[in-house]
Amino acid sequence: MPPIAFSRSGARPPPYTHLFPITPVKTLTVGLGDRAYPIHIGEGLLDQAALFDAGIRGRQVMIVTNTSIAPLYLERVQAALARDGRQVDAVVLPDGEEFKTLATLDQVFDALLARRHNRTTTLVALGGGVIGDMTGFAAACYQRGVPFIQVPTTLLSQVDSSVGGKTGVNHPRGKNMIGAFHQPQVVVIDVQTLATLPPREFSAGLAEIIKYGLIRDPQFFAWLEANMDALMAREAAVLVEAIERSCRNKADVVAADEFETGERATLNLGHTFGHAIETGCGYGNWLHGEAVGAGMAMAADLSVRLGWMAEAERARIVALLERAALPVAPPTDGTFTIDGFLSLMQVDKKNIHGKIRLVLLRGIGRCVITDEFAPDMLRATLAAYLGGDA
Ligand code: NAD
Ligand code: GLY
Repeated sequence: MPPIAFSRSGARPPPYTHLFPITPVKTLTVGLGDRAYPIHIGEGLLDQAALFDAGIRGRQVMIVTNTSIAPLYLERVQAALARDGRQVDAVVLPDGEEFKTLATLDQVFDALLARRHNRTTTLVALGGGVIGDMTGFAAACYQRGVPFIQVPTTLLSQVDSSVGGKTGVNHPRGKNMIGAFHQPQVVVIDVQTLATLPPREFSAGLAEIIKYGLIRDPQFFAWLEANMDALMAREAAVLVEAIERSCRNKADVVAADEFETGERATLNLGHTFGHAIETGCGYGNWLHGEAVGAGMAMAADLSVRLGWMAEAERARIVALLERAALPVAPPTDGTFTIDGFLSLMQVDKKNIHGKIRLVLLRGIGRCVITDEFAPDMLRATLAAYLGGDA
C-alpha cells in the first residue's frame, strides 16, 4: 500500500483520484444499548454520503469547523451532505484551544438560530478534539439536546476524543470544566485527512495509541513495535488498523464505564504527570499528547521503582515513544523543582482527599489506578528526571 502523501498544515490535501487500492472500510460499534453507535474507519470516507445519512434524522444539518480545516475539507463534506433537499449550513470558528470557550459556543448557537434550525437538526463536528468537544456540547444544549456526528480530522481525535461522548469547553479556572456526556450518532474517520496534519500533532495522537497498548492490550503494543515505522510513514492500511484497534479499546472501556466511575479513569495513564508539564510550561508550548508521552515514561519509571514492572519493559516503552518522535522526559531547564512538580500533580480530578492517585503499570498491558504507593518513590522518580535530592 503506498503511503499517504505528506504535507504540512495549511497545504491543500492531495487530490483523491483513488488510483491506488483503497483499504476496506472497517466498522465497529460502541455498545451502549439503545444509544449504541458505529465508528467507520477508512480512506475517502468524507465523500461517502451513506455513512452520514445513517446519523441524520431531520432535514437540517449544521457543520461546525474552524478556519484551518474549512479550506481543506468543508466543501467535500457539504457536498456529501447536500442531498434530498436537505438544508446544509456551516459555521467556521477560530482555530485554537484558547477559543474552546462558552463565548465561541455562542457563535454556534447564533448560527443555528439565525438559520432557524429546529429540534430535528443534526450538528456535524468537522475537525480535531477542540471542534469535536465544542460541537458535542453545543448539540447537548441546543433546544435541550439534538443529535451530532463526529468527523475527526486529527489522529488524537480519531483515536480518543471523538469516541465516548465527553463534550465541553474550558473555563478560565479550569480545562474542560463545563460540559456534558452526549454520545454522537456516528463517527466517520477518514484517514486521508491525516495527510495534512503537522508532524507534532501526528505524534501527539500516537501517544494516545501507545497508551491503549500499555493499559490493556499487550498484543497491540507488540504490533505497534512491529509497525511504528509504517505508522510514522502514514501508510494508509497501517493507520486504519491502528485507529481501529485503538477505537475498539476505547469503545470497550466506554461501554463498561460510560460515566467514569472506575475503569474509564485508566485512560488517564501518564496524564497526571503530563498535566503538570502542560501547566508548568504554559498551555500551548507542549501539545497534550507530547506531555502524555513524557508522562507515560515517568509512570513507567515509577512502576519499576515500586517493583511492579521489569526494567526491560520500561526500556521497551521508552524506545517506542522515541520512535513515535515523542518526548520521554519533562524539561530539565529549571522550569520545575520536585516540590513544584508535585504541587501541580495535586490538581487532578482523579485525586481524592488531596492524595495523588495515579495510573501505574504492573507490566505492559496491565495497569492499576491507585494512591497506594510509597510517596518517597514518587519523589525518587521526579528527582531522576528533574535533578535535586529526593
Ligand atoms: P485540535 O483540535 O486543536 O487540533 C490540533 C490542530 O490541528 C488545530 O490547529 C487544528 O485546526 C488542526 N487540524 C485538525 N485537523 C487537521 C488536519 N486534518 N490537517 C491539518 N490541520 C488539522 O487538537 P486535538 O489534539 O485534536 O484535540 C485536543 C482537544 O481534545 C483538547 O481540547 C482536549 O481537551 C480534547 N480531548 C477530548 C477528549 C474527549 O474524550 N472528549 C479526549 C482527549 C482530548
Ligand atoms: N480521554 C479520556 C476519556 O475519554 O475518558
